Amino acid sequence: MTPIPSDASSYANTSAFVARHMVLDLTANFEQKTLAGSVELQFERREPGATELVLDTRDLMIQNAEAAIGAGAWIPTAFRLDTATPAFGSALRITMPPGADRARITYATSPQARGLQWLAPEQTAGRKHPFLFTQAQAIQARSFIPLQDLPGVRMTYSATLRVPKALVAVMAAEMTPGQAGTGTFTFKMPQPIPSYLIAIAVGDLTFKPMSARTGIWAEPATVDAAAREFEDTEQMIAATEALYGPYRWGRYDLLVLPPSFPFGGMENPRLTFATPTVIAGDKSLVSLVAHELAHSWSGNLVTNATWPDFWLNEGFTTYLERRIIEAVYGKARADMEAMIGVADLADSRSTLEIPRDRTLLPDMTGRDPDDAYSTVPYEQGALFLAFLEAKYGREAFDRFLRRWFDGHAFQSATTSTFLAFLKAELMDKKPGVVTDAQVQEWLNTEGVPSFAVLPQSDAFVKVEQARDAWVGGGAVDALAAATKAWSTQEWIHFVNALPRTLSPAQMRALDGRFGLTTSTNAEIAHVWFRLAIAARYQPAYAAMEDYMVRIGRRKLVVPLYRDLAATAEGKTRAARIFAKARDGYHPMTRSAVEEIVK
Ligand code: BES
Ligand code: ZN
Repeated sequence: MTPIPSDASSYANTSAFVARHMVLDLTANFEQKTLAGSVELQFERREPGATELVLDTRDLMIQNAEAAIGAGAWIPTAFRLDTATPAFGSALRITMPPGADRARITYATSPQARGLQWLAPEQTAGRKHPFLFTQAQAIQARSFIPLQDLPGVRMTYSATLRVPKALVAVMAAEMTPGQAGTGTFTFKMPQPIPSYLIAIAVGDLTFKPMSARTGIWAEPATVDAAAREFEDTEQMIAATEALYGPYRWGRYDLLVLPPSFPFGGMENPRLTFATPTVIAGDKSLVSLVAHELAHSWSGNLVTNATWPDFWLNEGFTTYLERRIIEAVYGKARADMEAMIGVADLADSRSTLEIPRDRTLLPDMTGRDPDDAYSTVPYEQGALFLAFLEAKYGREAFDRFLRRWFDGHAFQSATTSTFLAFLKAELMDKKPGVVTDAQVQEWLNTEGVPSFAVLPQSDAFVKVEQARDAWVGGGAVDALAAATKAWSTQEWIHFVNALPRTLSPAQMRALDGRFGLTTSTNAEIAHVWFRLAIAARYQPAYAAMEDYMVRIGRRKLVVPLYRDLAATAEGKTRAARIFAKARDGYHPMTRSAVEEIVK
């Protein structure tokens, strides 16, 4: 019986009770914006004498609690909710009679639940039906289910969702076919998962298969474009299996959400949730699929034990993502994306106020893990693994990673578990290649170590030459000739590499020739708008405002607010845009922007 690692972001008393299975039964009420019903939790009891069960909740209305012993009858039991803290919500304390190992709680969510977004029909592609989706990572599951909300506990579950008959409910689980139109949907998750991977969506959803085990869930208006964009998903799975072993979750489907989805993607098991902003029409942003798919190994199979170990999820996944891109689209594309990542790392690091947040091991005591969210665990983590690959050789490192996934499947891992594995499996077997001091520097330094092995791209060298020629006074026609065959990644690098001090005439010349203000590629538009803010290029502002109101993806809009807020005039504009956008944003995007414009 391995102890559950202590977790600063959960109130759960996991030394006494550990949840192993959940039975969920919820009804979605779109008028009231509530989910209401019951959850049964089945526990492994670790302290026979324990009389109190402590669960995580946030803004829940608890109606009653019951307890049971084994297959015995439910008996009403006492419960109370502690005062809420802003970071973690309220502990729910339930009296457990001797021997009780099941608890059932009847409850309803608040319309403001942080883990839910209720969309009006106008916020969807079809504009006719409302939509609901959940986002549980990091600690929002507790805002729609009272449970042990920490990644160190894994459970299986079954669920029933009751929704208006015109809508379809999906979960990141095995779905029961043939239930559309009935208003009742049932699900099963046979593999044990941490609470942050519980996910629900309800809307006017339809399904289009892509291969025997992959397909798209989306609104009817979006499903065909999505299926075309993501048609290489099966190839990505095959490439990942060849590197890291079998895909262990059965199906791999993607759910395309409305544009207010606060993330690019979320690796919910069997059903990745994705923003529609990656549907560029040319597959140029599908590294998002590679990323979320990679989490089926790094994250969902081997899970960060606590949130300070987050880099084990995201750093590994970013490394795997680039390997998948290399296998399916070639090394040049993977290298370009890795270089864009290194640039993002520096930019993101510079915005972090708490020094430890600039390292792989932030201190999260007393903080909502989302407050420490940045690019650092992603890109510094990926660079660390790329360094190990370079030092030990690709073949040995691939075998090492495969053993890591196989040996820790369906378990959670801490940073020290990983370091011990690294020491035993690589460092001790090939002494002198990588030192302990180097490993410590990767984890603890606030920058990229001087001995890092950085990605390189010939394509980007050419992009920089084209930039130099044009910035140095070259004709825009010459630039147009140079850019003719550029990919999205080359455009992103080009815009990012332009001086922030371009004149209005230079900005107009670029925009007139390349239509950047009206780019339909959300990532190119993003980097262009950031340049437009720096260069005070007014003609881009109306389109930028539309973009910031239409899109709720944190990574695309938050940097724009931050850039605007750097000047007094910009801050006024940011506040005005936010006033317009606020109601359409997910609670997580809303609170991130509020911090900036307040
Ligand atoms: N698991 C993350 C999203 C996440 C992290 C949600 C922390 C809540 C808390 C997901 O896999 C992710 O990293 N998404 C990225 C995608 C990108 C790196 C390709 C995103 O949303 O931008
Ligand atoms: Zn991720």
